[in-house]
Amino acid sequence: TLLDVVIDNDLNFESYGVCEGTISCSTCHVILDQATFDKLEEPLMDEYDMLDLACGLTDTSRLGCQVH
Ligand code: FES
Repeated sequence: TLLDVVIDNDLNFESYGVCEGTISCSTCHVILDQATFDKLEEPLMDEYDMLDLACGLTDTSRLGCQVH
């Protein structure tokens, strides 16, 4: 996932992915370009629910911990 990329590369994004991919925060919110967004599988309902809490939500928002 994108969260794994951040962790594996020791990238220092403040508070990114604090729930470690359990879909209980929205700190891993990412905004994708339309072409990338369209290639991904549909989000699960849990992801939609958590995205509703994300700051700056857009039509191409996803949770980085759910993007493979
Ligand atoms: Fe918390 Fe993705 S890391 S929802």
